[in-house]
Amino acid sequence: MLSVTLVILATSLLIFACRRLTRKPIIPLPPGPKGLPLLGSALDLPKENEWLYYSKLHKTYGDIIHFNVLGQSYLVVGSLRIASDLLEKRSAIYSGRIHLSFGGSFDDWKRSMLLQEGPAHRGYRRFAHKGLSSTAVKQYEGLQEREALKTLQKLLDEPEKFLEHFKWNTAATILLIAYGYQVQCYSDPFVLAVRDVMDRFSTFFAPGNLLMDYVPMIKYLPEWLPGMSFKKTVWEFKVQADKTFDDPYEAVKKQMAAGTAVPCLTTQLLEEMKSNEDEAHITGMTGSLFLAGSDTSASALSAFMMAMILYPEVQKKAQQEIDAVVGADRLPAFLDRNNLPYVDALVKEVLRWHPIAPIGFPHRLIEEDHYEGYRIPKDTLVITNIWHMARDEAAYGPDPERFKPERFLGSNAAPFGYKTAQTQEFGSPAFGFGRRLCPGQHIAMSTLFILCSNILATMTVSPEVGDDGSPILPKVESTGGVIV
Ligand code: HEM
Repeated sequence: MLSVTLVILATSLLIFACRRLTRKPIIPLPPGPKGLPLLGSALDLPKENEWLYYSKLHKTYGDIIHFNVLGQSYLVVGSLRIASDLLEKRSAIYSGRIHLSFGGSFDDWKRSMLLQEGPAHRGYRRFAHKGLSSTAVKQYEGLQEREALKTLQKLLDEPEKFLEHFKWNTAATILLIAYGYQVQCYSDPFVLAVRDVMDRFSTFFAPGNLLMDYVPMIKYLPEWLPGMSFKKTVWEFKVQADKTFDDPYEAVKKQMAAGTAVPCLTTQLLEEMKSNEDEAHITGMTGSLFLAGSDTSASALSAFMMAMILYPEVQKKAQQEIDAVVGADRLPAFLDRNNLPYVDALVKEVLRWHPIAPIGFPHRLIEEDHYEGYRIPKDTLVITNIWHMARDEAAYGPDPERFKPERFLGSNAAPFGYKTAQTQEFGSPAFGFGRRLCPGQHIAMSTLFILCSNILATMTVSPEVGDDGSPILPKVESTGGVIV
């Protein structure tokens, strides 16, 4: 009897030991707030200025934070090195995008390059590269100089509407590049349509705003039920977004048939088109550029105006440089760009000081990954806290809240420490990461250079003056959404 007990005991011990030895160690998720059962952190996420909330979390949990919202896993990355390790060095698995359901009325809206994945996404990017690489954008410099001139006139006529004028400029530039289309007036139907879509887009895509994507069964509930009215709004977005993609494209095709088309990216790509599939890529890509390229640079230009008002000494220094290099007989042009280092540093500082996409746009991890001892589950949405990275004192020096172009000048210029190709070229990671990096970065930098230099050469940006004669300084604040 004793020997049987001993055998059982020994076998059990052996099995236990084998299990211990063969069992995979439990790999923890990165640290982060645990949230409530089922809801996760749904109630903690702010509707606005998420980057400030995430920055607070970085102080508690470090540069890599995990949380979940109704079962959806999120990773927020607050360091350039980690963002580059994951989204650039492991870009093969970190370049997916959020899958949107948008309700039962229609399936995922995937025409936008921003939401495309896999081979289709590569096709879009190949086309975008043809028109927007650093070499290709040189062909638009004349066009951008002419559009800048029109914007100067508008600013002189109605300075208080500066943001309107910037939006006009950036939409007009991208319409000319993509479709050879010349905008005539503020109520241009293409411009109004794109503005409407962008306003909705930016709000929808802020994490926490797309209820349907957290609770997919909502898409099967009818619109007339209480609380479901937002489905109508989503439907209107889709109709309007389709119009933004199709109308200018169809106009170019008609002009090509009539032999009146102005050469542009669409005519170039249509002439080189090989298959019907290519046509879907062309409309999707040009439409995406129109959508993504219209408000983004305008938003950066409004940050420039804010900086000029709050830091008059910077404005003066830039004006002195322009006066010395360009003189007073003509406007700054692209040929002056290399001779205006202070203006160049000022543009970099605008993007660092007030990144217009402070949390980028989430990348989806397409398979489980392990990083620095943590497990990152498949389908995690990775948020890059660009705002936080741009305030890293180790990279940009002391007082990162201060607008100071000098950081990017001289032999000891920022960024210090860890660098990526992007931060070396543009100063900060404002244009995102890896395979999803902004394809409009070069055109955006040209727009910022030509408008900032032309404005500085011809006018002084100053604050509104109150009844008592004292300046009314604006508060540094931003609107919510993906593009602020
Ligand atoms: C100051 C101006 C701009 C900034 C700061 C900016 C920034 C960004 C950022 C952060 C992303 C997301 C990157 C990522 O997911 O890692 C993005 C994506 C994108 N941007 Fe820009 N952008 C600007 C202007 C433009 C312009 C002018 C265009 C078009 C001409 C454009 C077209 C796009 C497109 C199509 C995408 C989606 C790329 C993809 O998912 O593959 N952007 N941009």
